[in-house]
Amino acid sequence: MNLNNVEFIRSVADGALKGDGGFLRDGRPQFVFAGRSNVGKSSVINRLLNRKSMARISSSPGKTAHINYFLIDGSVYFVDLPGYGYAKVSAEEKRRWAKLMGHYFSEPDLITAGVLIVDIRHPPTQDDQVMADWFKKAGCPFLAVSNKADKVPAGELDSCLEIISQTLGLKSDNPPLPFSARKGTGREELIEWIEGFI
Ligand code: GTP
Ligand code: MG
Repeated sequence: MNLNNVEFIRSVADGALKGDGGFLRDGRPQFVFAGRSNVGKSSVINRLLNRKSMARISSSPGKTAHINYFLIDGSVYFVDLPGYGYAKVSAEEKRRWAKLMGHYFSEPDLITAGVLIVDIRHPPTQDDQVMADWFKKAGCPFLAVSNKADKVPAGELDSCLEIISQTLGLKSDNPPLPFSARKGTGREELIEWIEGFI
């Protein structure tokens, strides 16, 4: 998989739309990226793709509440879900987020695997747990990519990862991955994990 070959395909705001306005379903594997607002989701995606700002399109005005599709090397999709947990979001926007997620996750056999990005420094939030539950309910394997590892002293990494594992109810064969979008830590492991599904 050549991660330098990236094409932005589509932005979807409404899961009820079919055809060109709706979710993509063309048989290619879909890897879903989810995370709390400001956790570093764009930075993680950009680090994977060796880009400075590919994922910025996802946070440009008007696109934040959308599901954004990137085609990688003509063969797999990276699906950037709208960030959640931003305190200033209105109740109306929260409802729209939940509705869009409900539509997306209820599509049968659409998602190949999920990348749930959390902040390694803090226990996962209630919203992170809700997101993890979306993956679990869909029967979708997911990896807890624990970002901002550069902010934690090496001696504290294991206990941070243990808290994440416990809070999200992860199995011992699916441990969280320490990651730093800033330093590149964990990039190879994440690519390997993704490639294990294709
Ligand atoms: P929104 O799209 O605005 O919700 O945010 P996001 O989740 O896409 O996060 P973004 O990538 O914009 O990063 C948020 C902030 O965290 C920025 O200031 C980044 O520089 C910083 N950041 C992201 N990843 C890391 C990391 O691995 N280490 C450190 N130290 N900072 C990071
Ligand atoms: Mg972003």
